[in-house]
This record gives sequence, structure tokens and C-alpha cells, in this order.
Amino acid sequence: MPDPIALVPLPRSVIWSEGTWETSDPWEGLSVGLNDALLPSEYTLSISPEGAALSAGSEAALADGRNTFAQIVTGAVGSIPCVTISDRPQHAWRGVMLDVARHFQPVAEIETFIDAMALHRLNVLHLHLTDDQGWRIEIKGYPRLTEVGAWREQTLVGHLSGDEGSWTFDGTPHGGYYTQQELTELVEYARRRGVMIVPEVDLPGHMQAAIAAYPELGNAPEQKLGVREVWGISDHVLGVSDEVFDFLRDVLTQVAGIFPAPYVHIGGDECPTVEWERSAAARARVNEWGLTRISEIQGHFTQFASAVLAEHGKRVIAWDEVLETHLPDDTIVMNWRSAAGVAEAVERGFQTVIASSDHTYFDFYQADPEGEPLAIGGLTTLQDVYTAELVPAGLGADQEKLVLGIQGQLWSEYLPTAAAVQYMAFPRLCALAERAWGSPQQSWQEFEERLRAHLPRLDAFGIRYRPLD
Ligand code: ACM
Repeated sequence: MPDPIALVPLPRSVIWSEGTWETSDPWEGLSVGLNDALLPSEYTLSISPEGAALSAGSEAALADGRNTFAQIVTGAVGSIPCVTISDRPQHAWRGVMLDVARHFQPVAEIETFIDAMALHRLNVLHLHLTDDQGWRIEIKGYPRLTEVGAWREQTLVGHLSGDEGSWTFDGTPHGGYYTQQELTELVEYARRRGVMIVPEVDLPGHMQAAIAAYPELGNAPEQKLGVREVWGISDHVLGVSDEVFDFLRDVLTQVAGIFPAPYVHIGGDECPTVEWERSAAARARVNEWGLTRISEIQGHFTQFASAVLAEHGKRVIAWDEVLETHLPDDTIVMNWRSAAGVAEAVERGFQTVIASSDHTYFDFYQADPEGEPLAIGGLTTLQDVYTAELVPAGLGADQEKLVLGIQGQLWSEYLPTAAAVQYMAFPRLCALAERAWGSPQQSWQEFEERLRAHLPRLDAFGIRYRPLD
């Protein structure tokens, strides 16, 4: 049975008291209510020998309180310890990015992952739905996106190194996609657990799967492309025709309709300009749009997407490359390339989510590669996640307010199954949950001890994780 005292994330105020509440069905005995006297982000949970009461300042805070209660009662048989907890998160955005484009995950596996997020008060699931290696969302009017774009014939084995002739492939087709109905149901599943799903359609780069399905979306329609079978950055990016912008309008409009979140992530990372540089049409657009450089075409895409989404009451989130071209003031910048970028984004007045590859890329090794499953590279240990500086020191109070939160990334090039995703996610996400929640910072030893007592909860939920050293 998990130690009830080992709460992760650790609440701001937790007072254990003498006695227990004897109950065979704790959920039946939990009374729940909203309370205007609390801050919108705040909840209070009190368990006494007579029962349990949860009150909160909003529905979101109620979900946090329910998830804390779930942690306390998981594995407790009949006898619940008495406690009073008052808590609220430091950061509104406590996220995880799950890449279901490189490797498809069945809906049931995403649901399990959402359960595990909720248990840790992680409240934003950023779903990376499209990339060069697979398009995973049904879009009405574009059947080939999922008939063609959702499938690749084979996948690179190992790392991309040497010349093309030396690469080896698994010879096994891979793919899958989500219908709009499935995604609508997934959104509701997550909502009931206090998790908001933010979809990502990566543009204008990382679009090879869509271009394989509809060559007219690219810069050289006569060139026949397949869905990409290797990792790395593809040179094949969206073209600049009216048809491309009509396509984007349709896609973003449908995405806005499926996902009620006030944000849509439009990617914006790693967009090579070589095809635009070679394209007479792209050069003509630079003049027509009043730009001075080919690379500014990306800014035109950002502004277009932002305008379409604004019609649906949504704001754009994008990876930090978008800072290099003109972008609307209400863009939320997702910082991944370096911690220094956080300071730049907030100094320029943009709300920012910290998703830095220095400490939050959980596709990186978590220990000596020697004893670990093949990963993309890097090294981010559990201790790094718990102790690293995530929010840069020295930000002014106004700048710090622009930091919306913190997010862990699960890119799936080397994570082909849900079990592989869970193994890389946990226990690093336990540490990230503490940082994002803003739990009172303890010593690494204290955290490790508490985590050891928390891990049986992951067992109880059937979540795989890397055992502690
Ligand atoms: C990224 O890792 N390309 C955002």
C-alpha cells in the first residue's frame, strides 16, 4: 500500500492528524463543493473520522483536489488517514507533450496516460498530431491525409548516420489516425480528469506526410514524395499557393471545432527554407507580401494561422523559432531550444511555456545509455529535473508573470509503444509535476525518499516507470 504521506506533488500546506476515517468506499463519502471565498486556483481537502470534504474556488481546482484525494486513497484498504490540505499551483500550465505522429498510440493508451497525468496534477496534454512521418487527425474534405498520410511503409532502425545507402529499415508498415469523433471523446475524457488537450498541427515545416498525400501542398508538385521513413528534419515544407492557405484554413477551423481549449499549437519549429529559395512562386510572394527575406515567409504562415484561429476565439502557441519573424502580440511562445530563449520571449512581452531541451526532453536518456533502451540521445536525469533551474533567475516580477508554466516533452522517434513512453515519462514526470506545481522545494534526498513511497501508486495504476537507482 502506498504511503499516504508521500504526496507528489507535495502540497503547500499538509497537516496530518491523529485518527483514521474507516470507509469501504471513500469516493461515496467525499462531499464536494465550490467556495467563492477561495482563490480560483485553490482547494481545501479535509479528511476526518467523520468523512471527507473538498472545496475549491473553481472547477479546475476541484479537479486538482479530487486528484489529490485519489492519491491518498489509492491502495488504502478501509482506513484513510486524517489530514487537512490547502493548496494551489504556482503555474497554470503544467504540461506534457505527447508525440503521436512519429509513433501512433491507440486512444486507450492515451487515456491511461491522462489518468497518470491527473494523478500528478499535470493539467495540459499537448498532442503533437502531425509530422513528416505521420498525419494522425481526420480532416473532412481531405481523405488522403489519413488514407495516405497516416501510413509509412517502414521505419529507420537505429540512428540516422552515415550515407543513405547504409541506413537499415524494419520493413514493417506503421500508422494509424484518430477520427474526429474519437478526439471529441478523448477531450471529454481528459476534461473530466482536469486535463485540457491542446492540439498541435506543425506548420509550415514538418509537413511531409501531408505533402505525400496532396503533392500540390508542397513546392514541387511534380515530385512524388512518400511519408518520411527516417527521423531528422525534412526539407519538404508547405508551398505558398492560395490552395495551401485554403487547406490550412480548413484544417485549423476543424481543429478549433474539435478541441475547446483556447489555444492551438501551430508548431513552427525547424522549417528549412531551401525549397522556398528555389521557388519562383515563393520569391514572387515575398514581393507581394511586402517581405524582404525568404525566411520571413514563415512569419506570414504564423500570422495567417493566428488570424484564422482568432476568428474562433483561439490563440496561437508555437515553438520558439517563431520569434525570428514577425508574430502577433498574443502568441504564446513554447521555449525549447535554450533557457536563454525564455528570457528573450518574456522580455519581448510574450507569454511563455518552458519546454527546454536542457531539462524537459524526456525522450533523452535518463541514465547511462549502456543500461538503457535505445533513445534519441542526450541525458536528463531525474535529479536534473528536480533540481535544475527551469525558470531563469533574474527575471523581473512582470516578466515572471509571463511564464505560464512548464512542460515535459515525449518525442516518440524512439518510443514505439505506450510502455516505452511510460518508461521514459516516469518517474521524471513526478519531478516535473513538483516543479510545475511549485511545491515547497525540498532536498533531493527528501524527494527521492518520498518518490520511493509514491511509486506503488504508479504500480496500482499499471504505469510503467524506470526504477530508482
Ligand atoms: C522540437 O524539438 N523540434 C520542438
